[in-house]
Amino acid sequence: MNYTDEEICTQIGDDPSKHHGAVSPPIYQTSLFAFASFKDFTEAQKLERENYVYSRGVNPTVELLEQKLAALERGDSCKCFGSGMGAISAVFFSLLKSGDHVLLINNIYGPTTQLIDYLKKFKITYSFIDHELTNIQEAIQENTKLIYVESPGTMRMKVVELEAVVKLAKEKGIITAIDNTWSTPLFQKPLTMGFDLSIHSLTKYIGGHSDVVGGAVIGNRRLVDEIFQYGYQLNGSVLGAHDASLILRGLRTLPIRLKQHQENALKVIAYLKMKEAVASIHHPSLEQSQYPFMNTQMKGFTGLVSFELKQANFDSVSRFIDGLSLFKIGVSWGGYESLVTSPVKVDNAQQLIEQGISPGLVRLSIGLEGSDLQIRDLEKGFNQLR
Ligand SMILES: Cc1ncc(COP(=O)(O)O)c(C=O)c1O
Repeated sequence: MNYTDEEICTQIGDDPSKHHGAVSPPIYQTSLFAFASFKDFTEAQKLERENYVYSRGVNPTVELLEQKLAALERGDSCKCFGSGMGAISAVFFSLLKSGDHVLLINNIYGPTTQLIDYLKKFKITYSFIDHELTNIQEAIQENTKLIYVESPGTMRMKVVELEAVVKLAKEKGIITAIDNTWSTPLFQKPLTMGFDLSIHSLTKYIGGHSDVVGGAVIGNRRLVDEIFQYGYQLNGSVLGAHDASLILRGLRTLPIRLKQHQENALKVIAYLKMKEAVASIHHPSLEQSQYPFMNTQMKGFTGLVSFELKQANFDSVSRFIDGLSLFKIGVSWGGYESLVTSPVKVDNAQQLIEQGISPGLVRLSIGLEGSDLQIRDLEKGFNQLR
């Protein structure tokens, strides 16, 4: 059956007739599952991926979330984790071995780069190229096992041409994985473009209410089974049933929330364009004319935006941020509330410039409060720069 994304988010698998009429799927708050006979128990243990044995395996509430995420990404299997980093580390630990090389494309989430750097101690090497793919041919090595992409990135929001990456990787038998958190599966479906794995921090738009931490990996059954066995069961980054139910609740409103995040973000961007103090704005919606591939690659834009102040220094960034009140200062993004942050610190200007990031960069997670309120608040920040 081909279901629409809206049907998957709001209905599929939630059939109340299966749950005594309950309109919310039940929370199986249990660590283990008991068996009628010892024989049944030993049989179930042979295939923990498919049987309810222990919740550091398969749990029905988490499984419902996994089925929905797999359907949204058009993948045949999904495993959920206790965090996005749990999912990312499971991919690395399960698929890489000593002597392998990983090619990372675009600005990659900081802890992911720290993790890959840490894996040097197991003789796993890595290199980076930027989103333009200018040197991708040369960057691929004999021992490249995995190409890991973030698109859009989450600091300068740069996009990568996903089908071009897949084409080269397939020719050389390299596994491809993408962190698809920025877009969510509603706005970008990398598996349909040939990616092997799509990874999410469910903590962001999919959970959507800043009250839960979770992660997911979606892909073909063979790869996800391998990740289940090693990176999930043995590493043990489990998503609890209660947290899974919060994320299932988040999914029900994901389609309408994303529409609103997009609308608010586009209005805020139009406002930022008029501000004298702004040197440049970063959001994939502004790159469409430059990259025609985006017309088919992405179906929409979420609310994570960044911009550069002309006065690119810690003092100006602090004054701007401290002038805001609706936008809360904090990490993470993708929730109902608007957030502001910056990678700028008192003493890291040079380091940021070397990474291609302006020391005047401010990042906004445009929430659901309404663009008029958001713009009024941003105006207060700009007033502090005078
Ligand atoms: C792009 C991206 N990927 C992965 C993660 C990690 O997710 P989590 O915080 O759920 O571990 C984050 C967290 O901010 C992120 O921004």
